[in-house]
Amino acid sequence: MPRVAAFSVLAVVLLPKFISAQTYSATYLPSNVPPTTEEGQTGTNQCGTGLNQTSDCQNLYINSVTDFCLFAPPNPGADSVIGNTERIEVAWCTKNGTGARLIPDGAIKGAHFVQTPDFVQVTGIGDLTLLNIPVGDEGGELDPHGADGNGNPIGGLVFSSAFGQLKQIHEWTNFMAADQFCIRACKPGPMAPIFCQHIYDVMGCAWNMPANYDSGFETCVGDSGEPMGVYGTSTFFQGQPVMPPAHPRPSLSSCTTLSTIGNGFLISGTTVLPPGVTLSPSSGPLSAVSAPTPSSPTSAVLPGSPSIAASSPLNASLGSLASSQASSGGSGALTPTATNTISSATGRFSAMDGWECSVLTVGLSFIGSVLGTFLFL
Ligand SMILES: *[C@@H]1O[C@H](CO)[C@@H](O)[C@H](O)[C@H]1NC(C)=O
Ligand SMILES: *[C@@H]1O[C@H](CO)[C@@H](O)[C@H](O)[C@H]1NC(C)=O
Ligand SMILES: *[C@@H]1O[C@H](CO)[C@@H](O)[C@H](O)[C@H]1NC(C)=O
Repeated sequence: MPRVAAFSVLAVVLLPKFISAQTYSATYLPSNVPPTTEEGQTGTNQCGTGLNQTSDCQNLYINSVTDFCLFAPPNPGADSVIGNTERIEVAWCTKNGTGARLIPDGAIKGAHFVQTPDFVQVTGIGDLTLLNIPVGDEGGELDPHGADGNGNPIGGLVFSSAFGQLKQIHEWTNFMAADQFCIRACKPGPMAPIFCQHIYDVMGCAWNMPANYDSGFETCVGDSGEPMGVYGTSTFFQGQPVMPPAHPRPSLSSCTTLSTIGNGFLISGTTVLPPGVTLSPSSGPLSAVSAPTPSSPTSAVLPGSPSIAASSPLNASLGSLASSQASSGGSGALTPTATNTISSATGRFSAMDGWECSVLTVGLSFIGSVLGTFLFL
């Protein structure tokens, strides 16, 4: 890749800036966080521990393959694409007890947790329309910075106990699409902003976090690999004409597989019933509904808009879940490919918000001028 050498000048210019840019105004735990942590925040950081599928909690945990959360839209609907809702996403968690919404069992069809010296990461696939992401949304990137430094979502906090006691993770990045997700939380320290670089927001999961995106569930220990965008002494910047390939997947040293993950709660729309709670016999066909089994190919394929279930009465919503489970559906669309990711990058690129365009324009003129100066040296 001879062309990549042209990036080295930029790396020298910009890397020191990334390294120095990490003073944090405050550090919280779920137990001492105020109700909100940023100006303009729509949700809350005081989440309690209750069970609430309309929770506005914006605290995300990433602890293990069975205990992680993702940011996703608060409301269903075609307008809820990640690009429109990035400032107001709420947390959806695999486990009860966080005060956030529960990810319905069966929504996640593949999740691969990796712990490396520099970060923890979960990559996977699923039917994330169950998390209010519209069908077909190629998604976008969420991180604690955003246009104004308040984060996308504004005030979203990430916590992890993967690096010792539970602590706030100041550097993280989370790509969400209708059928794929990836989230990386970086170990506090000087390398955190580099391994959780957030400037490649149109490049998608596979490029930013090369890892396993197959169905199935596993926990691995792995190498950190090279940071996104960094190729030896060169750094690529989004928008440059030659897009370097994704890094190879960092090697994994020990993996344990799980047959499934889940919480056992029965969830449909905003209705949630704890495990073991059975509906009354008078509800007829509903008593036959059991919690979806994530490994089943027919589980939780949602044929229509989540809004149907969201506002329905209990028995109607559960009925619609039952019928959607009964109809086995095409899960082919759930398999991500490199092509898929690149086109997702392009789609997102063309649908950029105004501020992103300005940032990119400024970035491009800067890069252009630097390249103009040095390209032919
Ligand atoms: C669920 O969360 C929403 C949004 O924070 C809140 O308005 C509502 O009162 C909560 N419901 C319960 C039962 O706690
Ligand atoms: C959910 O988690 C909370 C906090 O850990 C706990 O008090 C509650 O009993 C749990 N609910 C169920 C139904 O398991
Ligand atoms: C339950 O569903 C039946 C038939 O689908 C409907 O007629 C009835 O009104 C529903 N009950 C409630 C309480 O919504």
